[in-house]
Amino acid sequence: MMQTSAPGNIFLFGEHAVVYNRPGIISAIGLRTYCEIEKNEDSLINIYSEGYGEFSAKIENLKPVGNYAERIDLLCDLISTYYRKFKIKEGVTLKITSDIPKDSGGMSSSTAVLCSVLEGLNKIFQKVDKKDYYEFLLPFQKKIHGGNASGVELFSSTFGGYNKVRIGPVRCENLGELKLPILIADTEIEAKTSETVPYVRNGWEKDKNSYEDIFYRIRQLVEEGKKAIKNHDLVVLGNLMIKNHEILAKDLGVSHPKLNKMVEIALENGAYGAKLSGGGKGGAAIILVSKEKEDKIIEKLNFCKVYKTEIGVNGCK
Ligand code: MEV
Repeated sequence: MMQTSAPGNIFLFGEHAVVYNRPGIISAIGLRTYCEIEKNEDSLINIYSEGYGEFSAKIENLKPVGNYAERIDLLCDLISTYYRKFKIKEGVTLKITSDIPKDSGGMSSSTAVLCSVLEGLNKIFQKVDKKDYYEFLLPFQKKIHGGNASGVELFSSTFGGYNKVRIGPVRCENLGELKLPILIADTEIEAKTSETVPYVRNGWEKDKNSYEDIFYRIRQLVEEGKKAIKNHDLVVLGNLMIKNHEILAKDLGVSHPKLNKMVEIALENGAYGAKLSGGGKGGAAIILVSKEKEDKIIEKLNFCKVYKTEIGVNGCK
């Protein structure tokens, strides 16, 4: 039995703007999804997952899945695409577990599962190069989000650390592995990317000039954020996060009262910075904080689930 794992990740800067070909910075987090994998004697594919369910089929019966009606469909689609593309004849058993709460908008649980399973299949069959993970996995990521995703989180689950990424054309600059403590506060309000992306699109279509200006300001935060990461400057990084949250909340309208309250409490209690992360309207807030101040902030955020973890960790392996 071999084991692979892949990290979840968060948007430090640039969510929503990335959909409009602007850069964003994404980082891998300490919460991971694990995939145990071994070859079978027969031609059966078996999947066991706490979060996604179970599935068993003969290789010849594997079919790509159009729409994901059930959670397990994501894994069936990935595995059948891999098997059919590379004409693989040997069965496997996969056991998948995760630290990442499923349905937590903002931590990319689906990205981590896709990368850990692809890494597992590759450990055995060596068919997809790491530099091609984004291209290979993007169609699945898009289907999960109703066709709307940029999929840029795939870079951080694959390569780890911090990644400055843009699409159209795709470019990814790895900014290295710098481990920083972070709190992820989960609103436990489900917010679908398939709804928040069209919400922003609707605003953009009505007033392109204003939205282009908003995306320009976000882009500047991304450029300054890159420098702050390279300089290990947490004070600057935190201030930029606050500015990005304000734009997301006030200009793009994708925050939620609970997210704003989390950010406010975190800042009142000594965080360097805090912001919503991902699509917004629910999901999670991220809080950049020194180790000494973590517990106090967690205590004050007693109305929500808070994960104590780090960012900038390694990618799938
Ligand atoms: C969602 O996690 C991030 C968004 O930028 C959408 C996307 O990039 O696919 C809102």
